[in-house]
Amino acid sequence: MAARIAVLASGRGSNLQAIIDAISSGELPAEVVGVFSDKPAATALARVAPGLRWSADARAYPSREAFDADLADAVAACQPDWVVCAGYMRILGDAFVNRFRGRLLNIHPSLLPHYPGLRTHARAIADGRREHGASVHFVIPELDAGSVVAQAVVPVLAGDDAETLSARVLAVEHPLLVAVLRLAASGRLAEHGTTIQLDGHPLFTALRLDSAGVLHAPDGPPSVPV
Ligand code: GRF
Repeated sequence: MAARIAVLASGRGSNLQAIIDAISSGELPAEVVGVFSDKPAATALARVAPGLRWSADARAYPSREAFDADLADAVAACQPDWVVCAGYMRILGDAFVNRFRGRLLNIHPSLLPHYPGLRTHARAIADGRREHGASVHFVIPELDAGSVVAQAVVPVLAGDDAETLSARVLAVEHPLLVAVLRLAASGRLAEHGTTIQLDGHPLFTALRLDSAGVLHAPDGPPSVPV
């Protein structure tokens, strides 16, 4: 049966589109059961049918908790197997995270644990990093601190600015997110406390996406596609 995926997005929704496209092509055995946004004008919402959209202006709520409670009820109502933050730019409070913990994933544009938070590309350039990238991780109450499932690495090139680097990272975010969701949707991925399990075995090191868009376990040669 297709895995039920709820997507949280605040902006353009290119990662959401990558999910939709992968489902259409048969690459991802899943169904998008709802798209949720803190920004009613988010382009992401328009990528799905009206009946799948939920949004509310977070600024109209008296508190983060009040907004999160409405969001959580709406997400729960669509009975998702997985909840994916794909460009969701609002911090999720503990109550939301704990309600969906274990099935809550986020894509973040850096090689975590480097550069949690905002402006990751500019900070990587300012620090003279030679490599940057993206991570998909389980969400825990601490921001961008949950266990990392998989990463994709790109070079930082001479002359890069935040815009050129973010475009290079975005191009690998899409296959990275789809590859991790394939594992999730096929029941191969689980979070137990602070440990990730893949096929029932602990995953001590994040998987890596290769240039062909295939995930590999990086520890111990030969690297095995997963
Ligand atoms: C992505 O870079 C994502 O990692 C970050 O925000 C951006 C959202 O892009 N958190 P999109 O809305 O999926 O196009």
